[in-house]
Amino acid sequence: MAQQMHYSDLQVCVLAAGKGKRMRSSKPKVLHPVLGRAMIDYLLHTVEMLRPKGLAVVTGHASEMVQAHVGQPQNLEWVIQDKQLGTGHAVKQCENVIRDVRDVLIVCGDTPLLRHETLAELVDEHRKRDAIVTVLTAEPKSSTGYGRVVRDKEGKVSSIIEEKDADEAQRNIREVSSGIYCVRHDVLFDLLHKIGNRNAQGEYYLPDIVPLALQDGKSVETVQMKDAYEMLGVNNRVQLAEVEALMQERIIYDWQMAGVTIEKPESVRIEAGVNIGVDTVIQAGCYLLGSTRIGDACRVGPNAVLVDAWLDDCVNVFAFSHIHSANVGSEAKIGPFARLRPGAELDEEVHIGNFVEVKKSIVNRGSKISHLSYIGDSEIGSDCNVGAGTITCNYDGANKHKTVIGDDVFVGSDTKLIAPVEVGSGATIGAGSIVTKRVKEGGLTLSARPEQRHVADWQRPKKKE
Ligand code: UD1
Ligand code: MG
Repeated sequence: MAQQMHYSDLQVCVLAAGKGKRMRSSKPKVLHPVLGRAMIDYLLHTVEMLRPKGLAVVTGHASEMVQAHVGQPQNLEWVIQDKQLGTGHAVKQCENVIRDVRDVLIVCGDTPLLRHETLAELVDEHRKRDAIVTVLTAEPKSSTGYGRVVRDKEGKVSSIIEEKDADEAQRNIREVSSGIYCVRHDVLFDLLHKIGNRNAQGEYYLPDIVPLALQDGKSVETVQMKDAYEMLGVNNRVQLAEVEALMQERIIYDWQMAGVTIEKPESVRIEAGVNIGVDTVIQAGCYLLGSTRIGDACRVGPNAVLVDAWLDDCVNVFAFSHIHSANVGSEAKIGPFARLRPGAELDEEVHIGNFVEVKKSIVNRGSKISHLSYIGDSEIGSDCNVGAGTITCNYDGANKHKTVIGDDVFVGSDTKLIAPVEVGSGATIGAGSIVTKRVKEGGLTLSARPEQRHVADWQRPKKKE
């Protein structure tokens, strides 16, 4: 359990107005997903963990899209930055919505790997040292693209220089700014009103509050992150993939520590919204996506794809099965090569075998559909055996119709059930039947079969020389 925090005299300001030009997308950058969850959602979740007094989120480019995605949490205020004139200008737009707090924590919307513990450490250090401005810094493997932290002879920070404005020597500085700041509320906006835009990008840079605060004799501190990768910002799709890979490692690690066995972890994809029970084994090549939930002691894979799937305990999903928006009861066996489509609801101990497709159908306890079948818009009772090649003919070209099968029914192989149709409990349907009328309970029902002939003097054709 994450520890409970409560920073009641802190306001968080999230910068998310940028277009994200380098993403080359019609979608605002912060809505791009990392393992199935939008970047902004990670960040909002992280800052919510601090339980701050409130949140101001600055949007601009496609702000309606961002707002529609996030909705309207109670303590969140939207701030519009019409023109993206820089990070300093973005924070300045929050002047009217931030009040009655000691400090303002400024974060960027494009750093989904950030942990709340790291932010808490920044705020705590800022307060312990009684600083006016505290910059969260890091020493990543590559400093390319980041603002460099310039220090004086005593080692105190003197400015943050953006890469585009840096000279050769400054570019060689390994310590960079994460873009995350904790600033005393009572000085923040005075400082922001003083910054100019005479720099390589013609923007109002937030980092310029550092030299301005120092000029006023105010104390500026830095806190260096332990894990530099947490501040990785996504500016293009290469970085999106890098951040996603790191997030994947983190999610897999958490599930492993929580009691899940993951074979060949580098080959699986487990999205952020997935839940997995203890003693479950995820085999190589599986994709567990969306809001998929897997119970305890299940076995999935190899190479199964689960999208918004719900599996109860002790379920086996064999190789190459695809399950989308379907529920599977405990002890069920699925696949190999099975496909469960939206609305498939399988009870306990159901078996769905190879090349069987089930859509919007209820299959009750213990029933088996083992080979090559299509079951759609159906209800199948308990303990039925649906033979190979059975098809529920549910679609007349315009409308879908239901097939309802009772308990303990035996459907012979290659049966076509022309819906709407009902089959009474205990019925047996002969192989190859075409069922168009209600099948009575019990007994044997079968279609007339073509006569079988034998041609004794028939010769097999021979290949021409
Ligand atoms: C910024 C920092 C840099 C830091 C890096 C860390 C500045 C000038 N640079 O650079 O020092 O090392 O982050 O990742 O602060 N945004 C707005 N309005 C604007 C401009 C930007 O809301 O007018 C938002 C963006 O949507 C983004 C964030 O601010 O979420 C940072 O902007 P970005 O363009 O990614 O800045 P970087 O070049 O990464
Ligand atoms: Mg950035």
